[in-house]
Amino acid sequence: MLVSAKDMLTKAKEGHYAVGQFNINNLEWTKAVLLTAQECNSPVILGVSEGAGKYMAGYKTIVGMVNGMLEELNITVPVALHLDHGSYEGAKACIEAGFSSIMFDGSHYPIEENIAKTKELVAITNEKGMSIEAEVGSIGGEEDGVVGAGECADPEECKMVADLGVTMLAAGIGNIHGKYPENWAGLSFDTLDAIQKKTGKMPLVLHGGTGIPEDMIKKAIDLGVSKINVNTECQLSFAAATRKYIEEGKDLQGKGFDPRKLLAPGFEAIKATVKEKMELFGSVNKA
Ligand code: 13P
Repeated sequence: MLVSAKDMLTKAKEGHYAVGQFNINNLEWTKAVLLTAQECNSPVILGVSEGAGKYMAGYKTIVGMVNGMLEELNITVPVALHLDHGSYEGAKACIEAGFSSIMFDGSHYPIEENIAKTKELVAITNEKGMSIEAEVGSIGGEEDGVVGAGECADPEECKMVADLGVTMLAAGIGNIHGKYPENWAGLSFDTLDAIQKKTGKMPLVLHGGTGIPEDMIKKAIDLGVSKINVNTECQLSFAAATRKYIEEGKDLQGKGFDPRKLLAPGFEAIKATVKEKMELFGSVNKA
């Protein structure tokens, strides 16, 4: 059964480790992440962006697929199904469809509007026993080839949003989605420290987990990060393994064109990446 992310993140914050959110794109992705979590005896959060939601034929399809896998693959570790960077409408649609957790990303609104909308969704998710993530300060990333720097969140605004009763808070600390550019300045630990001092026990979320050096990940966890999102890194390892299979001509040998064979190396590559992250984040054997 899907669970809210609340308990797993409270335990992570207390135990000084982080739970990984791995974004899913299709059946292979979902199965790879769930099986790895079970093998590592680790709690896990499956992230679904609105784009990935559309790609997988809609939120209800995803809920059906994930619930089916939990049962038929005998997954017993805690699993949350979480909307990633949701709009207000997307959040409502996922609540209806049976997700166990949502992120409402109101970081592009003026703070008053972000607060008003987040507050409304906190009331709904609380009533349903779901977890909710809010965001303050935008997370940079590549859009149309332009890499925007991550904007650092204002710790006072973080406190205002944390006080609304959200489960977890994503705050921009110079992190960006996708690969980091050569000249990236690194995470702003001063900002993170100031936010943690203001927000106390609130589990903090680090987006853009791909490509952050290990020492920075560990320091971020020390300073209160309890959830780390990873997406691009699984995509890169899937693509590299698939490319190798095809470049070696394996799809042309025997029944190598069968999608169950063609996608197998990519599936194994996602599993290896997820395992590596779970070990780094310290969530192994924390189920
Ligand atoms: P990356 O794609 O950089 O790993 O970021 C994932 C993320 O933060 C999803 O919200």
